[in-house]
Amino acid sequence: MNAIEIKHLSKSFRGMYAVNDLNMTVPVGSIYGFIGENGSGKSTTEKLICGHLVPDAGEIKLFGRDYKDAGVRVRVGALIENAGCFPGSSIYQNLMMQAINLGIENRDEEIKRVLKIVRMQDNANIKFKSCSLGMKQRIGIAMALLGEPALLILDEPINGLDTDGMKIMRDILVDITKSYGCTVLISSHILGELEKIATHYGIIRQGKMIMELSAKEMESRARVFTSLKTDDMKGALSKLKEKYDNVREEDGYLRVYDVDEVEEIVDYLYKKGYVVSEIRKNKIGLEEYYIELMSKKEK
Ligand SMILES: Nc1ncnc2c1ncn2[C@@H]1O[C@H](COP(=O)(O)OP(=O)(O)O)[C@@H](O)[C@H]1O
Ligand SMILES: [Mg+2]
Repeated sequence: MNAIEIKHLSKSFRGMYAVNDLNMTVPVGSIYGFIGENGSGKSTTEKLICGHLVPDAGEIKLFGRDYKDAGVRVRVGALIENAGCFPGSSIYQNLMMQAINLGIENRDEEIKRVLKIVRMQDNANIKFKSCSLGMKQRIGIAMALLGEPALLILDEPINGLDTDGMKIMRDILVDITKSYGCTVLISSHILGELEKIATHYGIIRQGKMIMELSAKEMESRARVFTSLKTDDMKGALSKLKEKYDNVREEDGYLRVYDVDEVEEIVDYLYKKGYVVSEIRKNKIGLEEYYIELMSKKEK
């Protein structure tokens, strides 16, 4: 089953599409990295899912049901923009007010549960205004976790955090899915931030979903290749294809994928009568792959 299934979703502001015929599929239990540059439509999509905005067109299903269905709405927790906390009140008091709003019964117990998840059980009495950015982000997540949502929607929660803050945030997100079985949709304009934790990716550009893929598929595109030149590129290409599964010509070089031994390739070509004039071993990282993707899909 899918936690989120969106078909042909559109939303415009003053005649400009922020979200344009977008499709999205978020499997239950996934950490879905929703990646796109600033202004590509991530927040708008999330606000539409949360019912904060009304779509122009399209269909949104959450756990197989229409997103407006009250029974399904209560299963969604979200942190979009800021947590809406009272600065002069303590973390505990802020969570208590939210718990009352949500009609949660065992409030004290529930607050302790969410504070533990965000690793703030020892900070409950600190005033919100005294908290660091990283702490505020975590309080926002704690707020969104009240009532044990099955789906958590987080808008750029890693944005602006330092390295330690990012690490804690990643650990928390993995915990939420692993120990509490919650599905997490998390947006970011930096792919690398989510590289270690996302199980799925959706890449949005100018309001359109240009690609959805699993982390495994993404991994397989980020891999080792050897690029080389010879005096007879065409001939060498066909010889390489006889021996190696994945060979192609790109940017004036022959690329041989997934072969560790550069010498083996040179040796093989030499025996077939081709002299290698230039050779280099490369690795495409995820970030590079993403940048390449963003620049190539220009419409
Ligand atoms: N309330 C609004 N009124 C007018 N334009 C908006 C509004 N919200 C978003 N936009 C525009 O929609 C586009 C997508 O914005 P947004 O969803 O915030 O992108 P992202 O979150 O990916 O940075 C941007 O061009 C933005 O200026
Ligand atoms: Mg945004």
